[in-house]
Amino acid sequence: MKNIGVVGCGLMGAGIAEVAARADLDVLVVESSPEAAAAGRERLAASLRRAEAKGKIADAAAVLDRVRVITELDALADREIVIEAIVEDEGAKVRLFSALDAIVTSPDAIFASNTSSIPVTRLAVATSRPSHVVGLHFFNPVPVLSLVELAPTLLTDPDVAERARTFARDTLGKHVIESKDRSGFVVNALLVPFLLSAIRMVESGFATAEDIDEGMVRGCAHPQGPLALVDLIGLDTTKAVAESLYEEFKEPLYAPPPLLSRMVEAGLLGRKSGRGFYRYERNRA
Ligand code: NAI
Repeated sequence: MKNIGVVGCGLMGAGIAEVAARADLDVLVVESSPEAAAAGRERLAASLRRAEAKGKIADAAAVLDRVRVITELDALADREIVIEAIVEDEGAKVRLFSALDAIVTSPDAIFASNTSSIPVTRLAVATSRPSHVVGLHFFNPVPVLSLVELAPTLLTDPDVAERARTFARDTLGKHVIESKDRSGFVVNALLVPFLLSAIRMVESGFATAEDIDEGMVRGCAHPQGPLALVDLIGLDTTKAVAESLYEEFKEPLYAPPPLLSRMVEAGLLGRKSGRGFYRYERNRA
């Protein structure tokens, strides 16, 4: 594949666009407003400047030249693959997949969702081509973490799943594991209950965020503690993912604790808003 469309240029969309551009693809990213497009482009540019400063890429400006961040969804008509990375909201994603179905012209084009927890089947059946829809779940930060979960649905054509696997592995250089189309796939179905347990510990006064995180970093050699990780993921995204997992499995361990809901309602979204369980320099993430 030579070109790619990405919808959403937040934490994940910008990261996916970055790895695609670093793999020499022509990248078109669609955002919902000019302001969000400008912020997404700056997020991408800043990440590329950091990669250049660390010697990971030779020329950040040349990579950025391969990316256009726009607001017109119609411009995705010629794309060979479109990866959706908009907000974790089923209604919004269903509307988007239905719109993409009417726009993208090639019958071979692959539609992928980066959803963390919404069953991909629900997005696939919003199109007239469910055989070409698959889950491709990247990890944050996308340029750093090498894993992608491939999630074909019951309706995905095996050739399409294989092409998506080859694209993630050979074009983007990722390691691919496969999961059934279950909310959370493999990693979030295991990770999210752990993160929610850490939030419940803070909520009940069992221990401080700092001590919980230090415990897991020093005691279990985790690269960062669970509350720092929730701040990185985004508290809104963590809550949305927990709700989908709870809806799917009806297990209390997936239910978002009230403290998480209150923090989201208060706008304490983690790094992206400047404050979550910790405080950050605003919009640094
Ligand atoms: P985010 O909130 O940083 O970015 C979402 C972006 O989508 C925003 O910039 C928003 O303006 C844009 N958007 C919303 N509706 C849109 C539309 N209709 N058309 C175009 N753009 C639209 O969220 P984030 O973290 O990037 O998450 C995106 C997706 O990736 C979600 O499905 C999430 O579950 C998934 N994900 C998130 C991870 C994380 O660590 N944050 C990890 C892996 C997957």
